[in-house]
Amino acid sequence: MRNFITVIILLITTSFAFAQPHDSSMPHLVNKNGRWALMVDGAPYLILGAQCNNSSAWPATLSKVWPAMEYLHANTLEIPIYWEQFEPEKGQFNFANIDTIIAGARKYHLKLVLLWYGTWKNGSNHYLPKWMKLQPKKYFNMIGPNGKEVDSPSPFAKATLKADITAFSALMKHIKKVDSRQHTVIMVQVENEPGTWQCRRDYSSIAQKAFDSPVPGSALKAMHKPVSKKDWPQVFGKNADVYFHAWNVASYIGKIAVAGKAVYPLPMYINAAVRNPITLPDYYEFGGATANVFNLYKAAAPAINILCPDIYERSQKVYQKLLELYSRPDNPLFVPETIGEGSLSRMCFAAIGNGAIGYAPFGMDFTRSAMNPTGTEAAAKKLFEATSLNYQMLAPINREIAKLNFEGKIHAVVENKGDSSSSKRPNKVIHLGDWDAEVYFGTFHRLQPTKRPEGAKNAGRVLIGVLSKNEFLITGEYARISFKPVGANTGKPWQYLTVQQGTFHNGVFKPRRILNGDQTDWGLSFRSHPKILRVTLYTR
Ligand code: DGJ
Repeated sequence: MRNFITVIILLITTSFAFAQPHDSSMPHLVNKNGRWALMVDGAPYLILGAQCNNSSAWPATLSKVWPAMEYLHANTLEIPIYWEQFEPEKGQFNFANIDTIIAGARKYHLKLVLLWYGTWKNGSNHYLPKWMKLQPKKYFNMIGPNGKEVDSPSPFAKATLKADITAFSALMKHIKKVDSRQHTVIMVQVENEPGTWQCRRDYSSIAQKAFDSPVPGSALKAMHKPVSKKDWPQVFGKNADVYFHAWNVASYIGKIAVAGKAVYPLPMYINAAVRNPITLPDYYEFGGATANVFNLYKAAAPAINILCPDIYERSQKVYQKLLELYSRPDNPLFVPETIGEGSLSRMCFAAIGNGAIGYAPFGMDFTRSAMNPTGTEAAAKKLFEATSLNYQMLAPINREIAKLNFEGKIHAVVENKGDSSSSKRPNKVIHLGDWDAEVYFGTFHRLQPTKRPEGAKNAGRVLIGVLSKNEFLITGEYARISFKPVGANTGKPWQYLTVQQGTFHNGVFKPRRILNGDQTDWGLSFRSHPKILRVTLYTR
């Protein structure tokens, strides 16, 4: 009987926790035919985000954050909430930082993604409050294979889990209290790059006992293994250590997310220090949400909506592969950390082309940092210029892109190394029903040689939204686009009906001018200034 009651309670609490919020204006994720949208204020929203530096979320430093967001034209700020600041004494919560952050975001018309620096920050426990750090036996770290403590919290530390649940629930309660009408906070990252760098799993006696016990049925099911009473090494062989660690870290965070959602069910995600999916190195952050343990994470932490890649890889091939791996029918693509500098910023378009609900480069504020050692605003602006240009193109049409992407009507392509060497044949062809869009990167005019400023090599990018059969929304950089009638239009004479340059205001396109003559006769060209076109084609 007791078991039956427990099951009923569990069912009630779980369905409450994972249910769509009753209030449809609350931020939430929707899924249709394997495609995703993040609904914010009742409509699909594309996060054009920026993450500030780790130590910038203080009232004293926020004045270096807001102007950077303005310069970037970002619509969302990702910003940490530090456990050590939030709960300086056990059970006493300090809302000063979060309240200042929310007030600032509203003033600057930004949405917020809050990053909970709790038990894990980059695999360590460095954000634990002092009162916890000073009790290392109670809030213990993992033990390595040599019997020595490693600088990473143990997922078996029940007291740490309990304390994290308490603090995180208090945070969610406060967000609910101050923000459930305005919805400035749209999503929460639970922990930061959880896992362990120093060793593959916890070797403490309590962990070892679990390692030598039967693998939980849900873990077996997630990994398509038959039901059995076998232990981790028996079932998973050489992968047992990493799978075991991932399962335990994910289960731990899953419990925190369940508790937080029971208070206030915002979308929640975990960010991963990714493993290079091409070279598959032996050494990476073990136990994090890497692609090899994706299914274990999904089963152990179902209250987490998204597993996200932090992409610091500069190789386009690796970057692209990561975008594909983290974009799944059961996982919306969201890139919460990346490099937004120079030509690598084109991968923002690649992410959108893979259906992303958001993208956010890291370290985007005017404080002194490793990226910006002089700490001058001018130096920072130079570094952030490429992302700022992306967002100047995309911010006015972010709602349209998010809606069209949800419907599978966005096509985005980026330049590969060496693409622009020949302008005789298109570098990419985008199929748009009875039209093909032929994309030439780096050439702006059929008769003019390619001229690009230093640093803009390989920077080409193009995004096309299909508004209707013959009508397209286009933006891009360092590219020329020509159209070709295909399918039912094959062989028919065609023309532009109109090429309007303008922008969207509240869902309505506002043309500024009509392009014609030299501006369209050689194709539609995009250089390094924001240009949004609404193009209508017709055949005769
Ligand atoms: C990834 C982490 O998630 C960030 O908080 C930051 O530490 C960056 N690495 C790098 O600086």
